Amino acid sequence: MPAYLLDVDTGIDDALALAYLAALPDTEFVAVTASPGNVDADQVARNTLALLELCGRPGVEVAVGARAPLSIPLLTTPETHGPQGIGYAVLPEPKGRLSPRDAVDLWIEHARARPGELTALITAPLTNFALALRKAPDLPDLLAKVVIMGGAFYHQGNTTPTAEWNTHVDPHAAKEVYAAYRGWPLEKLPIVCSLDTTERMELRPAHVAALAEAAGAQVPELVLPDQPAGQRSTSDNTLVRHLSDALRFYFEFHRLYDQGYLAHVHDFFAAGVAAGTLEYSARPASADVETESPLLIGTTVADFRGLWGAPPNARIVSGNNPEQAFHELVSAVGRMARRLG
Ligand code: BDR
Ligand code: CA
Repeated sequence: MPAYLLDVDTGIDDALALAYLAALPDTEFVAVTASPGNVDADQVARNTLALLELCGRPGVEVAVGARAPLSIPLLTTPETHGPQGIGYAVLPEPKGRLSPRDAVDLWIEHARARPGELTALITAPLTNFALALRKAPDLPDLLAKVVIMGGAFYHQGNTTPTAEWNTHVDPHAAKEVYAAYRGWPLEKLPIVCSLDTTERMELRPAHVAALAEAAGAQVPELVLPDQPAGQRSTSDNTLVRHLSDALRFYFEFHRLYDQGYLAHVHDFFAAGVAAGTLEYSARPASADVETESPLLIGTTVADFRGLWGAPPNARIVSGNNPEQAFHELVSAVGRMARRLG
């Protein structure tokens, strides 16, 4: 049974990633921690707790760690994910309480307690993970698998022309993480889902409609480009209603940036890679992050040819299959939503 340590900045696509993992019957959430990114860390934690409860997973330990990036001020992105990070969705107040524990300590404690068992998935800036690696440099050995959503290697950025959001929020943390993985054997290296492949994950209104149908919702879920911006779902299925409200905001955001009425669901793809349910291929590379240049801060570079003379420190995802991924998403989350009603 896959057991996960998750670090998220929920976040519309983080929400979809969490819902997807919750929908898989054998998922164990060991702990879910919040990094500041899309919204501040405390809001991330509240969103995460509320969402896990909505997905029928109450009682998961959700904790905050760092409240700011390692070396630069936090910049959040309400224009991308909405004021509370979940688009137009207004999640119910969580019934559970946030953990008083520190996210970084939790990761280390669980990794030490179950060596070689836990899968780590980070769909947020790498702040907490970098801090965990500082305190426990043996983490790469303790974790069974590490999947990171971040970076843009041979692909344009989504925050600056060359930088991806998670890496741009905390470039120093990302640089530390890549440095920490130098010298580890290939099978221990993080699997990195960058914009090169996550931007192929174009979720569209038809997928939302299919999700509602799979959930057995009575009202067809039609999220259409010509509807007034901000229109809310009236679905009789609770999870479909919230996901639809979240995704509509993401569709409008992507349209604003001329990418079409669709949503790049980066974090869902990374979750599927972590779960081993989505098709992908990866190539080893030596990766690094620019932290000094004002022009290129947060830019990730992958050396696939060994030109730096440095050993690989990452496995960069180079191929994926969006059709298979969305089929899997709709059937798994649809099934869960039908069960929860
Ligand atoms: C990443 O940035 C965030 O806004 C998303 O949640 C995703 O993790 C994509 O660049
Ligand atoms: Ca995210």
